[in-house]
Formats: sequence, structure tokens, C-alpha cells
Amino acid sequence: MKNAIISAITALSIGFGASAAVAAGGGGKLLDHDFKFEGAFGTFDQGALQRGFQVYREVCAACHGMKFVSFRTLSDKNGPGLSTEAVKAIAAEYEVADEEGEPGDTRPGKPFDYFPTPLAEGNPPDFSLLAKARANGPHYIYSTLLGYTGEEKESGDSLLYENTAYGGYFSMAQPIDEGYVTYTDGSPETLEQYAADISEFLMWAAEPKMVERKQAGVWSFMFLILFSVLVWFTNKKVWHSVKHPD
Ligand code: HEC
Repeated sequence: MKNAIISAITALSIGFGASAAVAAGGGGKLLDHDFKFEGAFGTFDQGALQRGFQVYREVCAACHGMKFVSFRTLSDKNGPGLSTEAVKAIAAEYEVADEEGEPGDTRPGKPFDYFPTPLAEGNPPDFSLLAKARANGPHYIYSTLLGYTGEEKESGDSLLYENTAYGGYFSMAQPIDEGYVTYTDGSPETLEQYAADISEFLMWAAEPKMVERKQAGVWSFMFLILFSVLVWFTNKKVWHSVKHPD
């Protein structure tokens, strides 16, 4: 019993530690960043989510869609927490497919719609699940934005750009740099800050229920530990008279 408790606690601490470790995925070199959402008790930083969304909206959305993320979720309290009015206004800025019109017709978005996929060259991947689809997703996205070496090469009639996080050349030119997005909360307008914010936002987009999941996990571990302790004492008590007959 005691061993079972010890191994449960060891497993627990290994599990907690592992989520914070960073290993390079896909051959590229990843930079580490201390995201607030890492670890067993980590939660999203709402300011970062709002700024990350701003970066998405003003820069990345020109090429990357988020077809599984609805506008409505931007008002989640464990997410960006935008007001319903703000969400309505944001949705209306996007043109989405009009199911009731002719094929190809569009209409302004409503909160229940999903972020549309823009027409862009070079097959930019959809952002909905990117942070979960890549090894160390948030660190990978963060490192990609900071990983341009400035080297370019031609391939056919397109240009490729060297990126240390990608681990070679790919077709996305550096999309953002210092001062591109104007923050209203006084956060630094540096590439590093933009990279951290968009990575946090994309982690939320890929796993909007992460905070709830972690809370449920912590509660069930606490329950298991308490339960194990009770079983340990019950066991002692039940066998007491057998072990000590006098
Ligand atoms: C001008 C269009 C364009 C813009 C704007 C753009 N991207 Fe991209 N992005 C691409 C294309 C095209 C690719 C595919 C590159 C490839 O695989 O060769 C890509 C790939 C990526 C990848 C690598 C995904 C993978 O498959 O591993 C990341 C990460 C990424 N973009 C992040 C961003 C972020 C964050 C922004 C906003 C700050 C952004 N992109 C803005 C066009 C764009």
C-alpha cells in the first residue's frame, strides 16, 4: 500500500514535470519560453490571449484560417473573455460562406460562425489545431517567429526562407516584426512579445478547455490520494485484531 502511494506520487510529479520540458520537434531548434499555462496548475493569461488574438486578426489571418474555432468562443471566461458586443463586431468583419445563397455567396459573420479560411498562396496550415499538431506546439510557433536567419533561396518560381525552428527552408516569409501591432495595454511591441502572445492564443484555440481539464485532473488526483490514505487506515483497522490477537 505504502509503495502504491509512493509510486502514485512519483508518477504525478513526473507527469507534472514532463509538461514543462522542451525537446525539439521536427528537427528544428526550439527556444524555451515560460508560458503561464504550463504545468499542472497553469492557466491562460487573459491579456496574452487578447493580444495574441489581435496579432492573429491583424497579421496572420491574411493567410491562416481557424476553421474549427467559432467567434463565439472568444468570450469564454477561461479564454480571451471578450464581451458579446465585441464578438459580434469581430464576427461581422469576416465574410463567411452563405449557406442560403448561391454557391460562392458570402455574408458577414455571426458569433456562431467559424473563422473562415482565406485564399492564400503556399497552403498555409489551418491554425485551429496547429498548437496540438506540432511537437511542443506553442514553443514551436514561438520559435518559428523568432527563428528567421535572413537567408533566402529560390525554388522554382517561389522564394524559400531559412528558419531554425522549422529546421530548414520553408515558404513563409517573416510575417511580423517589431512594431507591427499596436498594443493598447502598454505591453512591449517587440517580436518576442508578439511571438509569445500569438503562441499562447493558438494554444488556447487548439485546447480551449485546457484550464477546466487541468482543474478536473488536480481534483481527481487529490481525491485519489485522500482515498488511498483512507483505504490504508481502514486496512490497518480491519486487520488489527488478527495481527494483535491479545
Ligand atoms: C503571407 C501569408 C502568411 C502570413 C501573413 C502568415 N503566414 Fe504562416 N505560413 C504561411 C505559409 C504559406 C506557410 C507554409 C510554409 C511551408 O510549409 O512551406 C506558413 C506556415 C506557418 C507555420 C509553420 C506551420 C507548420 O506547418 O509547421 C507557422 C508556425 C506559421 N505559419 C505561423 C504564422 C503566424 C504566427 C503568423 C502571424 C504572425 C503567420 N504565420 C502569418 C503563410 C503566412
